[in-house]
Amino acid sequence: MAGLRKKYGDTQAVDGVTFEVPRGEFYGILGPNGAGKTTTLEMIEGLRRPDEGTAELLGTPSWPRNRGLLRRIGVQLQASAFFEKLSAREQIHSFAALYGVSTDRADAMLESVGLAEKADVRDSELSGGQAQRLSIACALVHDPELVFLDEPTTGLDPQARRNLWDLLRQINSEGRTVVLTTHYLDEAEVLCDRVSIMDAGRILRTGPPAELISELGVDTLEDVFLQLTGREFRE
Ligand SMILES: Nc1ncnc2c1ncn2[C@@H]1O[C@H](COP(=O)(O)OP(=O)(O)OP(=O)(O)O)[C@@H](O)[C@H]1O
Ligand SMILES: [Mg+2]
Repeated sequence: MAGLRKKYGDTQAVDGVTFEVPRGEFYGILGPNGAGKTTTLEMIEGLRRPDEGTAELLGTPSWPRNRGLLRRIGVQLQASAFFEKLSAREQIHSFAALYGVSTDRADAMLESVGLAEKADVRDSELSGGQAQRLSIACALVHDPELVFLDEPTTGLDPQARRNLWDLLRQINSEGRTVVLTTHYLDEAEVLCDRVSIMDAGRILRTGPPAELISELGVDTLEDVFLQLTGREFRE
């Protein structure tokens, strides 16, 4: 994408963002609350119209929205929406049906995010972390080539976080492109091939975590963030 801009009223949420993610890459966008990460993802996904600039997905413009692309991408939204009053199994079966995916595959997905035991529980009765895992399973059920995850591990316990890391690594090692946003610098450091540090609607720096760390002569990605923005990462 090139030169993406988006303004909400007086707030310049995204202020000229340009980057490219090669196929098969694990790419992360890091930034504090309000940096413009979600807005950027939504424009790339074709869910929000940019004021300026263009984004392309798998070689096709993402706006106007392209239905043909929907089968090929998986999107986990930060505020995820489920169908009302369904059990976890019914939720993922509904997503599977939308994409013409077998129920066996859907059940396997539920299992791989550790929710097999909760299959009969209504989504409103799942814990926050369990609902999060369900939304990720739903985003992956149709085996997309390109996966977008907006803060997928926020609210997960340490074990669930590790399990999700394994799942994302596996998906990526099978050749799928993964784009995620995160607040966790350790997570970005272990998972991502490249990261962009974003603040106030702009990308400050992009590169492999180890390269950014050595370029700036610091020890951790946390230090990189501190140097680039002049403040602590955690709000
Ligand atoms: N629908 C909206 N209407 C008005 N302003 C918005 C809207 N969505 C986001 N904003 C503003 O745009 C800016 C960027 O928001 P965005 O949600 O993209 O940030 P973010 O990096 O995803 O933050 P977080 O880490 O909290 O998820 C913020 O200042 C926010 O207040
Ligand atoms: Mg966000």
